[in-house]
Amino acid sequence: MTEKFDVKLESKTFFPDPSLREHMRMGDYELAYNEFLKDPEAYWEKVAEELTWINKWDKICEWDHPHARWFINSKLNITQNCLDRHVQSGKKNKVALIWVGEGGEEKILTYRQLHREVMRFAAGLKSLGVKKGDAVCIYMPLVPEQIIVALACARIGAIHSIVFAGFGTRALNSRIRDSAAKIVVTADATIRRGKRVELKAIVEEAVVNAPSVDKIVVLRRTKPPMELYSEIEVDYYDVLKDVSECEAEVMDAEDPLFILYTSGTTGPAKGIVHTCAGYMVGTYYTTQNVFDLRDNDVFWCTADPGWITGHSYIIYGPLLAGGTILITESTPDYPDPGVWWNIIDDFDVTIFYTAPTAIRMFMRMGEDWPRKYDLSSLRILGSVGETLNPETFEWYYRVIGKERCPILDTWWQTETGMHMITTLAGQPMKPGFVGKPLPGVVADVVDNNGDPVPPGKGGFLVIKEPWPSMMRTVRNNEERYRQYWNTIGKYYTAGDLAVKDDDGYIMILGRSDDVLIVAGHNIGSAEVESALVSNEAVAEAAVIGKPDPLKGEIIKAFIILRKGYSPSDKLRSELIYHVRMSLGPIAMPSEIEFVESLPKTRSGKIMRRVLRAKELGMDPGDVSTLEE
Ligand code: WTA
Repeated sequence: MTEKFDVKLESKTFFPDPSLREHMRMGDYELAYNEFLKDPEAYWEKVAEELTWINKWDKICEWDHPHARWFINSKLNITQNCLDRHVQSGKKNKVALIWVGEGGEEKILTYRQLHREVMRFAAGLKSLGVKKGDAVCIYMPLVPEQIIVALACARIGAIHSIVFAGFGTRALNSRIRDSAAKIVVTADATIRRGKRVELKAIVEEAVVNAPSVDKIVVLRRTKPPMELYSEIEVDYYDVLKDVSECEAEVMDAEDPLFILYTSGTTGPAKGIVHTCAGYMVGTYYTTQNVFDLRDNDVFWCTADPGWITGHSYIIYGPLLAGGTILITESTPDYPDPGVWWNIIDDFDVTIFYTAPTAIRMFMRMGEDWPRKYDLSSLRILGSVGETLNPETFEWYYRVIGKERCPILDTWWQTETGMHMITTLAGQPMKPGFVGKPLPGVVADVVDNNGDPVPPGKGGFLVIKEPWPSMMRTVRNNEERYRQYWNTIGKYYTAGDLAVKDDDGYIMILGRSDDVLIVAGHNIGSAEVESALVSNEAVAEAAVIGKPDPLKGEIIKAFIILRKGYSPSDKLRSELIYHVRMSLGPIAMPSEIEFVESLPKTRSGKIMRRVLRAKELGMDPGDVSTLEE
């Protein structure tokens, strides 16, 4: 395990326009955090009071380590809060959802329309025999129906398990089997970079050996409609019932809402289970206070609902807050790297939430693309999923946000359900740092024993107290769940290494499993990568540790160069020198290999373990989440 280690913590601070603080819901961080500390339960109760409940709670929280229950004995249905509440309060004709297809096609649904579509499919699911507590697997492209089906499940108390449509047969099969899904909802195909990707065929293969599956519902998008072969396949439109009402199932606070599989560093994917009330309160709270979502915002989160970011900040959070969400099936660089900026221009997107990997891709393509479009509607930029290194931050801030929009670097996980640590709009921004724990979250950086480490010393990121949207268990693997809360003291261990500065800002150094131990010093891989990417020649970097008889491990870096640079020994030495100068000699890569691409998960995280295995001639383990 890791010893304490020193981290260099220099960062330029960006100060936002002072008027931002006054206008944000959470303008005064300190005040809000103190209010939370004074009475945590009262703090969350106040948030919950803003939502609609069938029956209110007897108690806010019961904590029996490692199990928490929130809003005890309350009854609710999350879709009443996402839909009925707005339909009944004057937002009937407000746009809930804007969808843009790859060829520029558009579909727009108002709250009234979305509400009806959800109820129609919910009634259809019931007619297929789906009952409260049954699992439904959703394997669909990024189309409005993907969201409609998820909400329809929640409407009748079925547990949805959304599987990103980029996964292959094996990954889908294991997820269907683990969740014991009764129904799989899919589409004939998705369109990616002008090409059809067949989805139904993958499902047909994936349900072999999955005896729990009764029916496959197929959204047929293309004409002439694809044939439905077997007895178990039914058409999406035949399932839709012509109802004007499908009552929301009364759900207990702790009834499961969904399962979402997340890949571990070892072993099979873990089925993270979230429940109704706590998840609802957490995602609502963060959408309101982190994104500061307003009535006239157009909110675009570029994730897919197949990931937690899509669950929490495409579907639930923004709809709970009554926002207008935008989704698109289009890839960022097809037909050209201007498509996303064109969408922002076209729909006056105000809040844009994406991943550093996308921003780095845009950096490689050059500033001319975004400059062609009017991005002045933007008011808030967000980032999620991996370290937003200073270089990328500055480009995002300058070229996209025109030095006007705050950048929120949000740290959280599938397991946490909601944002946990983040920069807030109106607070000073330090590139490379994700900011401070949100009011409601007690996070710290500690050593092996759970003792806090001083500023500037690296350690483990932990969450010390339960929070409403925490996962409740790992499906079929309660033991794995317990590990999260029993690895370092009695805290929730996120598996990330981090460091705090004197102001309490937290920097994520990388996963603890990707730690490099070089000559007895622990080095976070993300830190070295960040240093490399700060060199103008480097577009992307991934580093791994390679066993070395002398040093324990040495650092090997894989580098994708930016346009206009080509591999050479001279450049190799320059880069090593660059890291030496920015991080110190212990962090210097011993080897650099120039590559064209890096193995990544579909959510854009570099799979260093695959690189390492390849380098060492070992089995890479489960690669079901690998994109390329
Ligand atoms: C990483 C995604 C640096 C981290 C919401 C975490 C980040 C894992 C950030 C969870 C960030 C997420 N800066 N690293 N802002 N956000 N991570 O479950 O290692 O797909 O543990 O959830 O992503 O990934 P997950």
